[in-house]
Amino acid sequence: MPQHVGIIMDGNGRWAKKRGLPRTAGHTVGANNFRTITKYCSNIGIPYLTVYAFSTENWKRPADEVQALMKLFRQYLEEALRDFQEENIKVIFLGDKSGFAPELQELIERTEKASAQKTGMVLNIAMNYGGRDEITKAARELAQEVKDGRLSVEEIDEKAISDHLYTAGQPDPDLIIRPSGERRISNFLLWQSAYAEYVTMDVLWPDFKPKDLEKALDEYAMRNRRFGGV
Ligand code: IPE
Ligand code: IPE
Ligand code: MG
Repeated sequence: MPQHVGIIMDGNGRWAKKRGLPRTAGHTVGANNFRTITKYCSNIGIPYLTVYAFSTENWKRPADEVQALMKLFRQYLEEALRDFQEENIKVIFLGDKSGFAPELQELIERTEKASAQKTGMVLNIAMNYGGRDEITKAARELAQEVKDGRLSVEEIDEKAISDHLYTAGQPDPDLIIRPSGERRISNFLLWQSAYAEYVTMDVLWPDFKPKDLEKALDEYAMRNRRFGGV
């Protein structure tokens, strides 16, 4: 069983197009599925789950799609997070919160605070998240510490960098699942995924069921992880 699973929730737009619906309809169904799969992961005892909900590059999309996504985030943070509370799930947001409207930022902060003491699964929601942006942020913070005389150059090691990422203190992902048929990383957990096992699947995110997650876990169990050793 992996300690940390990452999921790139991809394929909402194609799911909707296939049905002659606007892309935003796919996002609504995808958001519902986020709730289902999160609960499932919590129930089977996965300690850390990271879901990729919105990348630093997704702002490039048409304004109406971005707007619809922001609206969904507001709704889902209100609703889904209420039931995550009952499931003892601790919610952490990965990404640059300052990019969101003040109202959404406040909701994000409220959610993190409300669940900070939870002891069950840690759910990381990557929103306005980019792996490069995250590493850049870490570099800036470390440079500032050196400049202020709080850190020496020699003290900058892999742990120091990890400690400045949004996932500070968490184990690296063991398994990253990408539905939708795309076989790329799209700026997700670049540093943390150095030795993650990738499983790509041809199912679109709104159709991704607990049985697909089980399939990915089975595939993971068959992998021989070597971490550069023999
Ligand atoms: C993932 O689905 C959701 C977000 C990126 C917010 P997409 O919207 O990327 O769906 P496709 O890849 O276009 O089908
Ligand atoms: C990655 O999917 C981001 C999320 C699922 C949130 P994209 O749909 O944005 O990735 P590309 O553009 O296909 O690489
Ligand atoms: Mg996509």
